[in-house]
Amino acid sequence: MSIPAVSSRSDVRTRTAIAGIGVSIPQTAISNDELVASYNAWAGKENARRAARGEEPVRESSSDFIQHASGILNRHVYERDGILDPERMAPYIPARSDEELSVLAEFGLSAARRALGDAGTKAEDIDLIICSNSHPQRPYPALAIEIQQALGARGAAFDMGLGCSSALAALHVATNLVRSGAHRRILVVVPELVTSHLDFRDRQTHFIFGDAAVAFMVEALGEREERAGRFEIIGTSLWTQFSSNIRTNFGHLSRLAQDDPSVLNMEGNLIKQVGNKVFKEVTVAGHQFIVDFLAGFDHTPQTMRRFWLHQANARMNAMILKLAFGEEVGSDRAPMVLDRLGNTAAAGAVIALEENHRDMKTGEYGLLCAFGAGYSIGGALLRMM
Ligand code: COA
Repeated sequence: MSIPAVSSRSDVRTRTAIAGIGVSIPQTAISNDELVASYNAWAGKENARRAARGEEPVRESSSDFIQHASGILNRHVYERDGILDPERMAPYIPARSDEELSVLAEFGLSAARRALGDAGTKAEDIDLIICSNSHPQRPYPALAIEIQQALGARGAAFDMGLGCSSALAALHVATNLVRSGAHRRILVVVPELVTSHLDFRDRQTHFIFGDAAVAFMVEALGEREERAGRFEIIGTSLWTQFSSNIRTNFGHLSRLAQDDPSVLNMEGNLIKQVGNKVFKEVTVAGHQFIVDFLAGFDHTPQTMRRFWLHQANARMNAMILKLAFGEEVGSDRAPMVLDRLGNTAAAGAVIALEENHRDMKTGEYGLLCAFGAGYSIGGALLRMM
């Protein structure tokens, strides 16, 4: 896998900063043991049905496997009710009328309001909102516009997405829009309600994901006097290479492939992944990306005080860092939130950043880096001001 060289800094015009970050994590949680018990209860019933039809049984899931293979112990979920019911295996989230605030807009707003508070900024000072996530609620009207209206922000808003790299892709876009002078203050909102799209009957993926929303403000450095504790964005970059190893076929075409298009068949149309291939291929690509990206700014992994990496697999992050450093890297250098929260898709690395930066000193550098479906990788080099 070849990673192209990153662009140089020579065209930078306006210096930019992350002025505030907001995180919203649902209260309710599900442990590995709870999840496995419900999966195995479902598997027992499913296997009785399969035996009657002479079909191969499904295999049981195990907490030991989940903890060892992924590092996940627990995940927080937007709605617990229904997920653990072997007759349902999906959260109950009631439909809302078109006049009500939609579920994902509400979830995103909870993080957005915290980001505004953290930045000490009023909504009317935002001139662009980007909503970027791996599981959008609908094609249109854009969630970002609904969030814009609910906040009372001016300017414009649009949605975008790049799988688990969605937050970094939006940071890349926002940074360059501010640098170019097109916008002064951009709010990026990343609501990740992944359990709504997860097949809790799929042993390969049922344990991986949790829900969380994050938001952050990107603005021109000249916009504020008080800079201590905030990050200057030194540079951002993206890399993509097509792969179907993490894929969802959910969408309007899914219903047309069946006899009755009035019923949406979810079978095969939810999240699926070939985890072990993703693990190997993205570990190699992630390592290469990090080394090349940092070299473009005359940096190395060693000059980073902290890595806020994508939170998909603890072993994968450890391996990427070992390739970069030639030795194990501890949790102070590369903190994890995956054990508590599961893989929260594009929100994960930003949560690691929000929870682990207050001890950093002026002038120290850190790398925010996410990877996932696409394949895609996004990076941002940050300097504590
Ligand atoms: N419980 C028990 N055993 C399980 C299991 C489960 N829930 N799921 C799989 N297994 C078994 C498999 O059947 C296989 O057994 P077998 O060899 O007897 O068939 C064995 O465990 C190994 O399976 P494998 O899929 O190779 O596991 P893994 O070590 O690769 O771990 C993941 C699986 C998903 C945790 C891991 O591949 C991963 O995290 N990949 C990266 C995913 C990623 O980064 N995605 C980005 C998305 S944002």
